[in-house]
Amino acid sequence: MGATFLLLAFDRAGHLRGKQPAWTPAIAVAPRVADAKPSPDAGKPPPHNDKVEDMPEGKGREVTFYTCTACHGVALIKAQGLTRDLWDNTFDTMLEKHRMPPVKADERAEILDYLAEQFPPRRKGRGAGNPFLK
Ligand code: HEC
Repeated sequence: MGATFLLLAFDRAGHLRGKQPAWTPAIAVAPRVADAKPSPDAGKPPPHNDKVEDMPEGKGREVTFYTCTACHGVALIKAQGLTRDLWDNTFDTMLEKHRMPPVKADERAEILDYLAEQFPPRRKGRGAGNPFLK
């Protein structure tokens, strides 16, 4: 009994199987099984604490907020000032490059109207009063 135990102990350590790697297949398979589980990030809240009120009031604010802040905060959006056409391009980038889930046409139109209205190009903004930009 004691000898059998000893033999098994040696065998597990690989002593009786020559030049086998120290790890056994059972151990090697374990991480792959773990990888097959859904991502631990799935269903997590977005990586910010922004609220609808963090975006300027206006028609389409809610749909824009819930569509556009699943992956990033509102600061990234507010930092942009674009024409409706360029917001349209940004929208495509989010869909194609960043894999945003599809958005219904009427919602897309409402979001683009909101973005173009609230975050237009800053032609006279920002740099206007900045002596360093003259
Ligand atoms: C599926 C995730 C996802 C969704 C939903 C999403 N974005 Fe993005 N967005 C990203 C990623 C990723 C970046 C790049 C972030 C970075 O570079 O740090 C980004 C960057 C941006 C930027 C920064 C400038 C740029 O072009 O990279 C803007 C503006 C932007 N998003 C606007 C929007 C708007 C408007 C919506 C809603 C219509 C939206 N995003 C929805 C993932 C998303």
